Amino acid sequence: MASWEDNLRQIEPYVPGEQPQGKDIVKLNTNENPYPPAPEVEKIIKEFKTEDLKKYPDTTAQPLVEALSEYYGFEENEIFVGVGSDDVLAMAFMAFFNSDKPILFPEISYSFYEVWADLFRIPYTKTKLNEDFTLQKEEFFKENGGIVIANPNAPTSIAEPLEFIEDVLKYNQASVVIVDEAYVDFGGNSALSLLNKYNNLLVVQTFSKSRSMAGARIGFAIGSKKLISTLNAVKNSYNSYTMNMVSYLAGREAVLNKAYFEDRVNAIIKTRENCKKSFKELGFTMPDSKTNFLFVKHDRVPAAEIYEKLRQAGIYVRYFKKPRIDNYLRITIGTDEEMNKLLGELKKILGGK
Ligand SMILES: Cc1ncc(COP(=O)(O)O)c(C=O)c1O
Repeated sequence: MASWEDNLRQIEPYVPGEQPQGKDIVKLNTNENPYPPAPEVEKIIKEFKTEDLKKYPDTTAQPLVEALSEYYGFEENEIFVGVGSDDVLAMAFMAFFNSDKPILFPEISYSFYEVWADLFRIPYTKTKLNEDFTLQKEEFFKENGGIVIANPNAPTSIAEPLEFIEDVLKYNQASVVIVDEAYVDFGGNSALSLLNKYNNLLVVQTFSKSRSMAGARIGFAIGSKKLISTLNAVKNSYNSYTMNMVSYLAGREAVLNKAYFEDRVNAIIKTRENCKKSFKELGFTMPDSKTNFLFVKHDRVPAAEIYEKLRQAGIYVRYFKKPRIDNYLRITIGTDEEMNKLLGELKKILGGK
């Protein structure tokens, strides 16, 4: 007999990193920023009149869009904002990937791409990576219904040069190419500079990493007016009021406070470069990270074992039990103090081996 259960959607969801509570935990598993947001962000939240919550927010999040427009030098109608870049990317998949041909994305990349493709019933093909986890350009020179590339890529931490992205764009004038730049502020080259040449390019960024605002859920996309108006049409066909008032006002302050942003990003880069050396001394190898995390592999001890022992010591890093990367750990760059604690624990774990 037919059952209502036959019509339930079967889907394998994305699994985010754990959010353990507990004050002594060192949390290096979700690529958050270890520093607080800019002081002006705190100020605006404290001054926010709770009474204003009785009204709906501005559907266009205008104060935030205006600040982004001034900061990045694009017109307001070339900017789209959403509830984290996950929301922006999901809208972009819905808005731009409507072909019968498969979309393309790297076989090792942000695992949400596959989940959205399944959710929105978009056919996809994963492109091969080289042995060293760099992307293969030729893999994107195939018929497709769209392309999404994280640059720098996650979890590998590798940034492809801008010429790579431009070659993909040159070959793919008939598709929308999304470049997910969640980590670009930590040393990658942004494809924003290519937007004047390619109106099929959408660059997506987030406030969750470099601007210390993962909890506020703010992401944005910059692209041609045609792409942005299509994104807005899709968003307004789904949920007009995506971004809440507090987030867009606080996000605006984060953008205006350029000096704080640059200072904290530089602090993370400095810690990262020091950590690269310390990890190598302990017998780890890793690609040259241009992100706020390292993707490390030990020459003797399996990643799963290190992961478990660190966890027992209250230090959370990310481990993916997936082909080709199941002997790697993705470790977010925390404060110097947190990284010293991690390195101390690693010495203990590896010393006993
Ligand atoms: C490559 C990549 N893209 C997008 C995101 C989503 O970030 P958010 O939704 O917090 O902006 C992440 C988060 O870790 C990421 O690693």
